[in-house]
Amino acid sequence: MSSEGLSNLLHEERTFEPSEEFVAQANGTAELFERAEQDREAFWAEQARAYVQWETDFEKVLDWSEAPFAKWFLGGRLNACVNAVDRHVEAGHGDRVAIHWIGEPEDETRDITYAELHGMVQRAANALADLGVGEGDTVAIYLPMIPEAAVAMLACARLGAPHSVVFGGFSAEALHSRIDDAGAKVVITADGGYRRGKPSALKPAVDAALDHDDNPVQHVLVVQRTGQETDWTEGRDVWWHEALEAADETHEAQAFDAEHPLFILYTSGTTGKPKGIFHATGGYLVQTAYTNAIVHDVHPETDVYWCTADIGWVTGHSYIVYGPMTLGATQVMYEGTPDTPHQGRFWEIVQDAKVTILYTAPTAIRTFMKWGEDIPAKYDLSSLKLLGSVGEPINPEAWMWYRRVIGGDRTPIVDTWWQTETGAIMISPVPGVTPTRPGSAQHPIPGISALVVDDLGEPVEKGSGGYLVLTEPWPSMLRGIWGDPERYVDTYWSRFKDVYFAGDGAKLDEDGNIWVLGRVDDVMNVSGHRMSTAEIESALVSHPKVAEAAVVGATDDTTGQAICAFVILREEAVSEADDAGEGEDLVAELRNHVAREIGAIAKPRQIMVVPELPKTRSGKIMRRLLKDVAENREVGDVTTLADSSVMNLISEGMTKG
Ligand code: PRX
Repeated sequence: MSSEGLSNLLHEERTFEPSEEFVAQANGTAELFERAEQDREAFWAEQARAYVQWETDFEKVLDWSEAPFAKWFLGGRLNACVNAVDRHVEAGHGDRVAIHWIGEPEDETRDITYAELHGMVQRAANALADLGVGEGDTVAIYLPMIPEAAVAMLACARLGAPHSVVFGGFSAEALHSRIDDAGAKVVITADGGYRRGKPSALKPAVDAALDHDDNPVQHVLVVQRTGQETDWTEGRDVWWHEALEAADETHEAQAFDAEHPLFILYTSGTTGKPKGIFHATGGYLVQTAYTNAIVHDVHPETDVYWCTADIGWVTGHSYIVYGPMTLGATQVMYEGTPDTPHQGRFWEIVQDAKVTILYTAPTAIRTFMKWGEDIPAKYDLSSLKLLGSVGEPINPEAWMWYRRVIGGDRTPIVDTWWQTETGAIMISPVPGVTPTRPGSAQHPIPGISALVVDDLGEPVEKGSGGYLVLTEPWPSMLRGIWGDPERYVDTYWSRFKDVYFAGDGAKLDEDGNIWVLGRVDDVMNVSGHRMSTAEIESALVSHPKVAEAAVVGATDDTTGQAICAFVILREEAVSEADDAGEGEDLVAELRNHVAREIGAIAKPRQIMVVPELPKTRSGKIMRRLLKDVAENREVGDVTTLADSSVMNLISEGMTKG
């Protein structure tokens, strides 16, 4: 957190009351807070029955006897896909548009009604079953932002087959490790997708990911999106459209236990190995639908909702697929980037589709600010009634811009704090109730309990900072790390006794609002995407020319944090580079190497070749000092360094470089 951010915080006293008009129609009311306060479990039971259709009603709300392993809605049985699709058709809403899909090429759109979606998920479920997928089998999904991504997820859920969606921007290597860890039987991918106006291939990464011994994958289902030339492995690869055409058109869905795993989603932690966070069906569905209703204030009959996240991240899972569809909402799904083919694309979509609720990331808002307010000013944004923010701290300045320029000084903003692990929103204003404060996620929503604590786990006073913890279990909490229960306990439940440690630093202001400041561990947040320093370090040292690497996240005006790497070269590489004057080429080579190992999103903004790294006597790299260098600050206390002259060497190298 920069000192500017902190001083802003001290002075932030602006608050915005919701308008009477908004309050009158809001789903979330003050009464919810009272109900939850009186009896948490009864409160969650009410939400569970209000938002989700149970094939068999649950008998018990929560079993916390084996904490931190929770069970919610015990005895309950349900099917997530039936909740998201079938029941809306049965209720007579089959003609309602579920997905208003907008392709990156400008003339391409598809409107898919709930009835059409119903047809697609049934055929897709049958096609997967024909390939041998059944209850408990895992399926990897590696797709661009096309409706088939949602259909694939829902079809897996329909079969009780946990899906593991891997973001399409991850490399073959990253895909391979995730496929292996989850033991995926089938991969669903596409020939390619559109990226900044051009088709870009996806299937070759899958082919490379599967080119290993002991690969668990039996079939690859391939959606035809771009029509580009695609290598084919006979017997293994199957076209999605052919498989769906050949499949039976009806599929009788079966109900699964509330605790049946719904999906795995890999996220970065403090070590090099991504964690397979897994979620259970019942609790996850309840909390995603409930929060989408009370925080985003979705009214399925009237709203046009748009969450701009990619389906490959948890935001896409919870607030494109499971939350809004469980409510039966109409939503926009956009394939491309905000600047393709022009910088007004988002606002053109809001105008044309009459979007009422927009949910996006601070990094995007800061980019729009940079592009200038005359761009959104060209469009009619008066359909918007609510704006949301997620993924990283939103600075008060960006918040104010978002409200004024996009929200016409009219719409409430919900700054929503949550994580892959929490599954759904935890801390956020409830927009018809909470007077909002720019830059703060404010309070736990009804049913959720959070605190800011000090090093000893004691709650901090108002006006002080500390660590964010969650003090009670919640329905959409992760049920663990796939295949590694010990790591689950160590990572989240060991830092403080009996509470969940989120890994974030936070501050309480004088009015008791929570300000989430960012990660306190070795996890970076780049454009709202979590990256682990260890993961990128391990990618760097896998390059033959690199002996050692240290990575830090440096503050960046647009992306929140940017990846900065310090590398020590192997001796042979140093002399070669010196002889040939190849420093720049080498840096480019290393950046590309990281992109190959993890994905383009992990490319360091800066790589600095240094002669030494600052280490303590026990050999631990002091990233704090490297962060000072990366953020152009005076280097802090060096007394614990084994060799205090190292920082001089690094700083000298920097001024020369
Ligand atoms: O550091 C917090 C930040 O994003 C982390 C979670 O990342 P991920 O699991 O990828 O999920 C992102 C989408 C929910 C958190 O530990 N974060 C998320 N939302 C906010 C935030 N930081 C500040 N304010 C937020 N609203």
